Amino acid sequence: MGSQIWLRGLCFLVCIFTCSFFSVSSQTVAGNVSVEGTVFIDGKTSIGKIDKDFICATLDWWPPEKCDYGTCSWDHASLINLDLNSNILLNAIKAFSPLKIRLGGSLQDKVMYDTDDNKEPCKQFVKNTTEMFGFTQGCLPMYRWDELNAFFNKSGAKIIFGLNALAGRSIHSDGSATGAWNYTNAESFISYTVKKNYSIHGWELGNELSGNGVGTRIVANQYAADTISLYKIVQNIYNGAETKPLIIAPGGFFDASWFKEFIDKTGNSVDVITHHIYNLGPGVDEHLVEKILNPSYLDVRLILSETSKIPSRVLQHQQLPGLVRQEGLTTVAGTMYLDQLGMASAYDTKTYCRQSLIGGNYGLLNTTTFVPNPDYYR
Ligand SMILES: *[C@@H]1O[C@H](CO)[C@@H](O)[C@H](O)[C@H]1NC(C)=O
Ligand SMILES: *[C@@H]1O[C@H](CO)[C@@H](O)[C@H](O)[C@H]1NC(C)=O
Ligand SMILES: *[C@@H]1O[C@H](CO)[C@@H](O)[C@H](O)[C@H]1NC(C)=O
Ligand SMILES: *[C@@H]1O[C@H](CO)[C@@H](O)[C@H](O)[C@H]1NC(C)=O
Ligand SMILES: *[C@@H]1O[C@H](CO)[C@@H](O)[C@H](O)[C@H]1NC(C)=O
Ligand SMILES: *[C@@H]1O[C@H](CO)[C@@H](O)[C@H](O)[C@H]1NC(C)=O
Repeated sequence: MGSQIWLRGLCFLVCIFTCSFFSVSSQTVAGNVSVEGTVFIDGKTSIGKIDKDFICATLDWWPPEKCDYGTCSWDHASLINLDLNSNILLNAIKAFSPLKIRLGGSLQDKVMYDTDDNKEPCKQFVKNTTEMFGFTQGCLPMYRWDELNAFFNKSGAKIIFGLNALAGRSIHSDGSATGAWNYTNAESFISYTVKKNYSIHGWELGNELSGNGVGTRIVANQYAADTISLYKIVQNIYNGAETKPLIIAPGGFFDASWFKEFIDKTGNSVDVITHHIYNLGPGVDEHLVEKILNPSYLDVRLILSETSKIPSRVLQHQQLPGLVRQEGLTTVAGTMYLDQLGMASAYDTKTYCRQSLIGGNYGLLNTTTFVPNPDYYR
């Protein structure tokens, strides 16, 4: 019964453990007068169904040199440098058993995998403001991928890996990226992963390249063709495997006509459609607290009611919540998180990924100590 959802927000967390009627005592504040009341929730009627593992969080690639608005909030929280020997980190992930973790973010589309086919030296991201996203191309050494997988296996996480979707394309001054996806490096990376028996829940193509894109964009027609290529590669490499990983795309902002064309043209080659929501705009906004507490900003129903029209043959959607980066925001940010979890589930979202598990001022865990922040418990 853990896969049913009844009401928004807090109730989600309660309902998941309770299958029939229950009541919650609450206090209603009328003006400055407190009134005791009882809310009855009919736990037999569901307004939406979620995947068995609804909760998901992200790990990103940002190096310590990534700074915005005067703070460098990623420290050593990147896939490349995260301390995998931390027991707090291990136990924090284990506690969810399983936690879905989406590996990705802007820099994923600038990562080379240091497999046998890679002829270039495996260099790390270097800060360079003239480069897209402010960094040069980076590289994932296979020994680090081995370490990550050993850690993920121990922690019982379900991994969604975001592949570099810009490989082989030309990026133009008008912001478009053209040409077909060169999947050679991704293909050998997936082969390596399968040879090592690492279990991957899903392979996701690209980060925020749909619609107008962030940094650059790819037209839906081309993206569909590339996703079909990914599907074929995966079918081929996992040939004979009992369970095949999910094919996931595009991990970008929702744009109705782009998504429609993409889904129509990708056909059955995509299992999961993912979209991102950062409905609060940049986290530096000094009115962020008011925005979070203002229902019209929280209300992503408009987007969700559009995305819920995505045909049901596409299994699930995921999204990232608005980013919150000011200090002292944990309580209101938590309100927003719960609200979005509930709302998303009511609108057919099957998995909800929180940006981030760690790093970036809005992690579930404290970036330096790995100690859970309040949102972790919600
Ligand atoms: C509510 O608070 C206001 C001042 O903030 C006060 O004037 C008023 O008497 C209070 N009402 C009650 C019922 O306590
Ligand atoms: C930054 O990148 C540009 C090209 O993208 C290059 O011309 C320049 O030399 C680089 N700067 C440094 C400091 O490496
Ligand atoms: C961990 O690895 C073992 C041995 O390869 C495998 O049987 C198991 O399914 C893995 N667990 C996870 C959560 O990936
Ligand atoms: C694709 O990338 C590989 C390197 O990963 C390169 O050797 C190959 O020439 C590229 N293919 C095309 C068609 O550009
Ligand atoms: C992967 O699993 C297969 C079948 O269970 C086994 O034969 C093989 O030795 C494993 N490979 C590695 C690298 O663990
Ligand atoms: C993380 O924990 C340290 C030590 O307790 C604290 O100084 C810091 O403010 C915390 N960081 C955040 C973003 O909460």
